Amino acid sequence: MILAANLKCNHTRASFERYAKALDEGLAGGISREDEILVFPPASAFCAGVKNFTQGAQNFYPAVHGSFTGEIGGDMLAEFDVKTVLIGHSERRAILGESAELIREKFSFAAAQGWRIVFCVGEDEAAFAQDRSEDFVAAQLEGIDLKYPSLVLAYEPVWAIGTGRSAQCEQIERMLNFLRAKSPAPLLYGGSVNAENIAKICAIRGCDGVLVGTASWDASSFLELISASSRCRL
Ligand code: 13P
Repeated sequence: MILAANLKCNHTRASFERYAKALDEGLAGGISREDEILVFPPASAFCAGVKNFTQGAQNFYPAVHGSFTGEIGGDMLAEFDVKTVLIGHSERRAILGESAELIREKFSFAAAQGWRIVFCVGEDEAAFAQDRSEDFVAAQLEGIDLKYPSLVLAYEPVWAIGTGRSAQCEQIERMLNFLRAKSPAPLLYGGSVNAENIAKICAIRGCDGVLVGTASWDASSFLELISASSRCRL
């Protein structure tokens, strides 16, 4: 399983240092060999020397460096050896106004760097209510190289993010099947995943992992979720 933590706009450099230490120590006891832990901290908090998890970037500008005020480019990620990036998160699409065109540019740039890309898709509440999830997600995948070898796809329905209302297993399975027909990439689910519902989510056929927000912001709660996920696979 891939267990990924999206810390969003939470954690300072100081608090992430404590988080990373606690997570590293917690994972040192041994995680299941087939598990991989990814953590996306704020870019201001990347830290050196982590051993048992991989740090990724929540965002970047599709350039190595240049005149892009306020942005972070490839050179800045390289300094922390960050080669894993999140693209297409619904908060960046909806709140930060990232267009499909910018998302495609980011994807092409990241693929040209050979970075691992965790590409997020997911329908909004209206599309879900009208049973148009597949059409909504298909539009988000237009122009994206679904055969890119270092791709991970994350299905995150917008209405399930940060609401405590995870999608039902049937909906997750249906959308993962839809994605599987299009791509050989590992498939994650995200949206109100926590230590209580992880067992059900892990059991969904075709689910290769989870992308966790709220329940990952505290290292001990993320560790609890990780161990709950490995317990349910024993
Ligand atoms: P929550 O786990 O808080 O619903 O957030 C999910 C998410 O947006 C992960 O990218």
